[in-house]
Amino acid sequence: MDLRDLERRAAFALHPAVYDYYAGGAGEERTVEDNLRAWRRLRLRPRTMRDVSSVSPATDVLGHRVRTPVLVAPAGMQRLAHPEGELATAAGAAAAGAGMMVSTYSTVSLEEIAAHTPPAPRWFQLYVLRDRRLTAELVRRAAASGYQGVVVTVDAAAVGDRPRDRRNGYRLPAGDLRAANLADASLSAYSTDLDDTVTPGDLAWVAEVGGLPVAVKGVLRGDDAVACVDAGARGVIVSNHGGRQLDTAVASADALREVVDAVQGRAEVLVDGGVRSGTDVLKALALGARAVLVGRPVLWALATGGADGVRALLDDLTSELVGAMRLCGVTSPGEITPDLL
Ligand code: FNR
Ligand code: LAC
Repeated sequence: MDLRDLERRAAFALHPAVYDYYAGGAGEERTVEDNLRAWRRLRLRPRTMRDVSSVSPATDVLGHRVRTPVLVAPAGMQRLAHPEGELATAAGAAAAGAGMMVSTYSTVSLEEIAAHTPPAPRWFQLYVLRDRRLTAELVRRAAASGYQGVVVTVDAAAVGDRPRDRRNGYRLPAGDLRAANLADASLSAYSTDLDDTVTPGDLAWVAEVGGLPVAVKGVLRGDDAVACVDAGARGVIVSNHGGRQLDTAVASADALREVVDAVQGRAEVLVDGGVRSGTDVLKALALGARAVLVGRPVLWALATGGADGVRALLDDLTSELVGAMRLCGVTSPGEITPDLL
């Protein structure tokens, strides 16, 4: 699958302001670009003469078996891409055996997603909101609906400045779309809802409220990762929000090793930002990630092909990964070690 062609087809299918909202990033979009380049810059050192007749990409992510280390990143507002929105994404991910993270700002409620799609490993992505009662309620609802854990996004104490959205006057053709998890909030409430006082102590609070494992998304430094793990996080997701928050923030591929080294195996490390091919996934695993998350390509697949499109994308990335594993002489994710880079 040619992801650039997929994006072109999605750009054609989507309202221009929606395409810009999805594709765009903060500032001059240097981090958006660098996320892509950083994976491509890395070079592999393949092993030869291994028996690679049987290769499996299956692994465990945050305590759950998944058929592939390629997961769907949390992204809000998916009914802007397709009438079925998150329901189609969840169905496609389940069909591909891929885990999925469901955004606080989903346009289908977390309960509906759980009730109307096949069971699959799924995590609820939480923004800690100024309204802590509402925040606690979201966490309890995720637990009650069978989500496997809560992913707290910590790189959005303020919303990044996104020139494309500014140029478009922040007008998305949202019609009657609502932030389906939040009874009163319109989608535009995003910037005012977010709590800018979040500290590591709040992670323990989230864990206690829901009784679910907590992972933290949006960490780019070893010291921050250690603070999360000390506060009880079971997972750390190295991410700069797809370059949508702080422009010129370090590419996630470049930040990954520092975080892996700092965490010393006390938590699983995941990564997202610019992952676009099987070799990108293999490089992430070689740097010490347990799994990767894919953001924008899933939205392009959703926009152009609904659930089947999402499934095809995830299947494709997974078979590219398997092909790359074969050529690197590895038969399972556990054999993907740093010396391959
Ligand atoms: C996002 N992302 C995001 N992250 C999050 O924690 N909660 C959210 O609601 C959203 N919403 C969102 C919307 C859109 C349109 C995009 C593109 C991204 C960030 C996302 O989870 C992920 O970190 C990046 O998208 C990964 O980068 P790539 O794969 O898009 O390059
Ligand atoms: C974004 C929010 C929804 O990146 O996280 O647009």
